[in-house]
Amino acid sequence: MTDKELLEKAEEAMRYAYAPYSDFKVGAALLCTDGEVFTGCNVENSSYGASNCAERTAIFKAVSEGKRSFDSIAIVSSGGDETFPCGICRQVMGEFSPDIRIITRKKDGSPSVWLFKDIMPKFFSLE
Ligand code: THU
Repeated sequence: MTDKELLEKAEEAMRYAYAPYSDFKVGAALLCTDGEVFTGCNVENSSYGASNCAERTAIFKAVSEGKRSFDSIAIVSSGGDETFPCGICRQVMGEFSPDIRIITRKKDGSPSVWLFKDIMPKFFSLE
């Protein structure tokens, strides 16, 4: 699975985004170290705090199916610019895979790769 292919899967997942309040749609595709891919979209709620980001949707889907080791996560949004994961999603990523690669999509459509440890240094962990 190339970074570009993972971005394409995130784009497909964004079709299912439920974002009537922000009108900001997000899609994510999570590549497990065993090669399996889980996708997710943001799911908003009229009680705003109950909303869930695309990244956590994908991660929770994977964890609930027995996966805990992640290689990469690709993120796209309807916003136009590169979209980075929020702090809560970064914390959730770190719980399972502090070596995860984060793939964003540049304006020209090409992938941009970030290392978790560079964008979330000194995150909270019980280790
Ligand atoms: N959102 C995500 O799904 N992922 C991010 O990385 C940033 C924000 C969602 C949450 C909310 O549904 C909408 O985007 C606007 O904040």
